[in-house]
Amino acid sequence: MIYFDNAATTMPKPACVTETVIAAMNSFGNSGRAVHGLAMDASRTIYEAREKLAKLFNCPRANNVVFTANSTEALNIAIRGLLNPGDHVISTDLEHNSVLRPLYDLEESGVETDFLSADRQGNIDYDDFSRRLKKNTRAIICTHGSNLTGNLLDLGRIGRFAAENGLLFIVDASQTAGVFPIDMRSMNISVLCFTGHKSLLGPQGTGGLCVADGVEIKPLKSGGTGVQTYLRHQPEELPTRLEAGTLNGHGIAGLLAALNYIEEIGYENIRTKEAALMRRFYEGVREIPGMKVYGDFRREKAPIVTLNWMDVPSGELADELAEDYGIAVRAGAHCAPRLHEALGTKEQGAVRFSFGYQNTEDEVGTALDVLRKICR
Ligand code: ALA
Repeated sequence: MIYFDNAATTMPKPACVTETVIAAMNSFGNSGRAVHGLAMDASRTIYEAREKLAKLFNCPRANNVVFTANSTEALNIAIRGLLNPGDHVISTDLEHNSVLRPLYDLEESGVETDFLSADRQGNIDYDDFSRRLKKNTRAIICTHGSNLTGNLLDLGRIGRFAAENGLLFIVDASQTAGVFPIDMRSMNISVLCFTGHKSLLGPQGTGGLCVADGVEIKPLKSGGTGVQTYLRHQPEELPTRLEAGTLNGHGIAGLLAALNYIEEIGYENIRTKEAALMRRFYEGVREIPGMKVYGDFRREKAPIVTLNWMDVPSGELADELAEDYGIAVRAGAHCAPRLHEALGTKEQGAVRFSFGYQNTEDEVGTALDVLRKICR
């Protein structure tokens, strides 16, 4: 199998990640619930993972890194825990359903939303932020990189606008965390939501949110924390304020191993390799007659090439690639309904090739040969 579905989840994981998860499953007690050695091993590992993530994203302190099961959970905590009826939010057409659906839910209880429209290349007009600004605008919520086109949004520019206008800035870094630079402080990010299993190379079931100082999120869940047991509500302090129940200690141990792996290789080197694979594939496919490629390749972007050939349904092309040639891609709507509408691909969907550090030039060459053969 040639795996080009790394935007859905990176695969295979580095061996150190798998080995660390297994070791943790054989040795961890429950973090924060006891002081015996096995529970302390789990606690120490989890704290080290918080420290590493805080350093990676320039989050003010390790305890402001909250673990969740994925970025969807992190985004739900941030969006539902910060917005109130009467608030206005600016978001974009690039968003995934993990942002859209919580916002649509909140619209029903009186939160107002504006989604900046994307053009046919999947780009927004940054001047629209000031055009949509209202007296009751409370937050900007946007992705760093589109999971459909790989186009990046300029977080520095949006963060400056947010800070100048006293807005919260909530970022979905699902497609970029671990590979593209993200600096919470210089980008004025209030809440950064990430998943562990994509470009952070960790296990599924890991993710989290990094919270800037002074941003008070109402807890979405309440329950056991191992501390302040006699309080009737969640403790006020982070991270326990937003972490009810046993953490995925085994997964977080794997995530820590992945963070160490990324540090060893250097995330710039990972990004450079993935960009080269994407660029080679893009230059090849765009020459195939009848091929439509989506997204903006004039700028730096996440390593995604999304395409359609003629009017062939995306699912059919993806099935043929998988069944006849062992090439794994993702077709359909990618949980990004507004962007598909903007690109004009609502009916056809699109076929997404997404590249990872484990992919090779040879695999890209094979995929190009296959597409040249099929698309004749
Ligand atoms: N959000 C993930 C994707 O884009 C699952 O495939």
